[in-house]
Amino acid sequence: MSSWNDLLKGKVAVVTGASRGLGRADALALAEAGADVVITDILIESDESSEEEAERFGPIAQVMQSTKVMYADQTAKEIQAMGRQSFSMKMDVTDREQVQEVFEKIIDEFGKIDILVNNAGTLDHVSQIENQNDDFWERDLNVNLTGAYNCTKAVWPYMKEQGDGRIINMSSVAGTLGGFGQASYSATKGGLLSFTKSMALEGARHGINVNAIVPGIISTEAFNMGNQKMNERMINRTALKKPGEPEDIANAITFLVSDKAKYITGVGLNVSGGIELFTY
Ligand SMILES: NC(=O)c1ccc[n+]([C@@H]2O[C@H](COP(=O)([O-])OP(=O)(O)OC[C@H]3O[C@@H](n4cnc5c(N)ncnc54)[C@H](O)[C@@H]3O)[C@@H](O)[C@H]2O)c1
Repeated sequence: MSSWNDLLKGKVAVVTGASRGLGRADALALAEAGADVVITDILIESDESSEEEAERFGPIAQVMQSTKVMYADQTAKEIQAMGRQSFSMKMDVTDREQVQEVFEKIIDEFGKIDILVNNAGTLDHVSQIENQNDDFWERDLNVNLTGAYNCTKAVWPYMKEQGDGRIINMSSVAGTLGGFGQASYSATKGGLLSFTKSMALEGARHGINVNAIVPGIISTEAFNMGNQKMNERMINRTALKKPGEPEDIANAITFLVSDKAKYITGVGLNVSGGIELFTY
C-alpha cells in the first residue's frame, strides 16, 4: 500500500484537454503526487496550426487561441521542474487515428499507462432546444462522449495486459440534474456516468477501476467566461456559496486514481459544494 506522501510514485498518467483549466490542475496534482504526466490537448502553444484547430472547435477554442490562454508546454515544463517526466502532445480526442498514434508513442516512451483522465470537454454555449445549433450538438457528443470512448478504447488493451489501470471521466452536475439550455452538454455528461459504470463492470476482471467526477461550478477560465449573472445565480444555489477551485477537482482525482481508493469503482463523485442539495 502506498504512503500518502508518494501516492502515485512510478505511475504514468495521461490527461486529455489539459492545456488549461481543470485538466492542467489535474496534471499538476498527479505530478505532485509522484506521477509522470503526458499533457494532451487540441490547443498547444507550440503548435502552429492552432488557429485552424480553434476555428474547427468553436467559440471557446477561438477565444482561447486568440488570447493565448493555453499552457500545455508550460505545464509540462513545470512538471519536469518537479523531477518528473512530462511532455505535451497535440491530441484531438475525436480523431481515433491520432488518439491511437499518441497512445502508441506514450507506450514507446514509458512502456505503460497507469492512469487516464478523460477531461476534454466543451463548455461554450447555452441555448434552448429551438435554437440549439445542430453542429454544436454533434460536436458536444463527439468531444465529450465519443472522445472519452475513443481514449478508453485506446488505453484499454495496455491496462488489461498490465492487469491494472485507473480511468476517470469528467462528468458534471448537468449530467445528474440536467441543465436549462444545456441539452447537448447535459446529455453527454449523463452519458458519461452510464459509460463509467459499464466500464467499471468490464474493467473489474482486469484490475481496471473506472470512476467519474461530478463537478459543480469550478472557477476555471471557461466558467469565468460565462454570463456573469448566470454564474452568480449558480453560486447562490450552491450550499457552500462559492465556486470550487480547480485543485478541489484535482485532489479528488488524485485520491481516486491512487491505491487508497482501490475498492472504489463505478462511482460518480460529487465535488460540487452541495449544488445538488435541496434548498429553499
Ligand atoms: N469548470 C466547471 O465549472 C466544470 C463543471 C463541470 C464539468 N466540467 C468539465 O471539466 C472539464 C474541463 O473543464 P474546464 O472548465 O477546465 O474547461 P476548459 O474549456 O478550460 O477546458 C477544456 C479543454 O478541453 C480541450 N478540448 C476541447 N475539445 C477537445 C478535443 N476535441 N480534443 C482534446 N481536447 C479538447 C480545450 O482545448 C480545453 O483545453 C470539461 O469536461 C468540463 O465539461 C467543468
